[in-house]
Amino acid sequence: MSTNPIGIFDSGIGGTSIFQEIYALMPNENTIYLADSVNAPYGNKSKEEILLLSIKNTELLISKGCKIIVIACNTATTNAIDYLRNTYSIPFIGIEPAIKPASLNTQTKSIGILATKGTLSSALFHKTTDLYANGITIIEKEGEGIVKLIEEGKLYSNEIYELLEKYTKPMLEANIDYLVLGCTHYPYLTPILSKILPKHIKIIDSGFAVAQQTKSVLEHNSILNLSSKNPDILFYTNTITTVLEEILNQEFNVEYLDF
Ligand code: DGL
Repeated sequence: MSTNPIGIFDSGIGGTSIFQEIYALMPNENTIYLADSVNAPYGNKSKEEILLLSIKNTELLISKGCKIIVIACNTATTNAIDYLRNTYSIPFIGIEPAIKPASLNTQTKSIGILATKGTLSSALFHKTTDLYANGITIIEKEGEGIVKLIEEGKLYSNEIYELLEKYTKPMLEANIDYLVLGCTHYPYLTPILSKILPKHIKIIDSGFAVAQQTKSVLEHNSILNLSSKNPDILFYTNTITTVLEEILNQEFNVEYLDF
């Protein structure tokens, strides 16, 4: 048993979609969340840059006593998790686009994926698609511009609506029945996508699977927090706090930290 915090990081506020799943499953775990919004988006950066930013976030979380790190960012996971696992002794949980369940369940044999350039171009993403999506048509779209707009607090803007219409058009033409959201910022787009896409298209992400995997690794390592004390949940951002506060519905305290 360990009361040390779970560390979570993302390029910005998107990883809060993963935090919400973890919090729902393990509401008594102490947690520290880092929103590296000053460096967002990671999606257009080189593998080396993404790796250096992931190391910086990891070392800060380790210095704060985290017992496990959840990389709540597909772009950082696909580019840095192997290095982080080989370098630090605590467990890491990563997130990858839900290509496997979409490929297994599609009836039309055609699925769409919306993710960042950094994720779609990564070796890990190609390995996953080679492994699970044999014989499936995958329409890949980079969500260029979306993370930036969400980070600017423009989730419900016309700009986002128009970008989503544009990115999903070729997917509709290819008769997809699954849309995989391959970036942790994107679950917040679901209400908007539900207006754009026909009802039969299932929109899926990996958030719940990541929370389950986190719990199982904590159990396996005997470091679950078994105390029933109210948890300390700390959110840090290296930009203005308001956008993060808003996405969290003002339910948690957010502090500025220079990192
Ligand atoms: N939320 C991130 C992801 O899951 C990062 C997006 C970005 O910074 O470009 O990929």
